Amino acid sequence: MFHLDDVRFLPEQFDHHAAIEAIAAEAFGPGRFARAAERVREMAAHAAALSFVAEHESAIIGSVRLTPIRVGAAPSLLLGPLAVRPDYKNRGVGKALMRLAAEAAREAGEGSIILVGDPPYYQPLGYRPLPLNAVIMPGPVDPRRVLGLELHPGGLDGLEGPVRAR
Ligand SMILES: CC(C)(COP(=O)(O)OP(=O)(O)OC[C@H]1O[C@@H](n2cnc3c(N)ncnc32)[C@H](O)[C@@H]1OP(=O)(O)O)[C@@H](O)C(=O)NCCC(=O)NCCS
Repeated sequence: MFHLDDVRFLPEQFDHHAAIEAIAAEAFGPGRFARAAERVREMAAHAAALSFVAEHESAIIGSVRLTPIRVGAAPSLLLGPLAVRPDYKNRGVGKALMRLAAEAAREAGEGSIILVGDPPYYQPLGYRPLPLNAVIMPGPVDPRRVLGLELHPGGLDGLEGPVRAR
């Protein structure tokens, strides 16, 4: 029986790349390249040191990535994709990845993380809805799904304008 205690969480390495792509393809399907968050990641490289994989019995079973961005003039990080392999869902892997990424970003001195996602999943992790239409993603998104996490006091202040590479 799979247990969270048997999962190792590791910073992303170059040789994890193919497994991470496969997990994202399985989770989001071919339509993933049209997602606004994916378009940001096409303009900007993710930060491997702030991105993590979950490993169980030598297999990568989940991952999360953070990409340095600016929203208007303010620096932030875009989170995504977050995905966990279907057989390993609902055991806490996703939330553990989320907490690791946020802690690494905080320790690196980052002020905030933003994402496009389901509020009921992310709100217990501290994410809150951003002012509607303040953050302009490169593609249509439901503005109620644009969420942010403050890593330091005031870290979400001034996030207003188009998202672009840092
Ligand atoms: C979303 C995802 C990463 C969660 O990973 P996970 O390891 O299964 O999540 P956790 O075990 O940490 O948390 C599970 C809890 O979150 C809830 N949850 C999962 N997805 C949810 C969602 N979209 N909205 C609200 N709650 C959600 C589960 O019901 C469960 O609740 P419980 O703890 O009360 O039983 C995983 O389901 C996944 O890869 N989904 C497909 C890709 C995806 O949608 N990614 C997020 C993009 S916004």
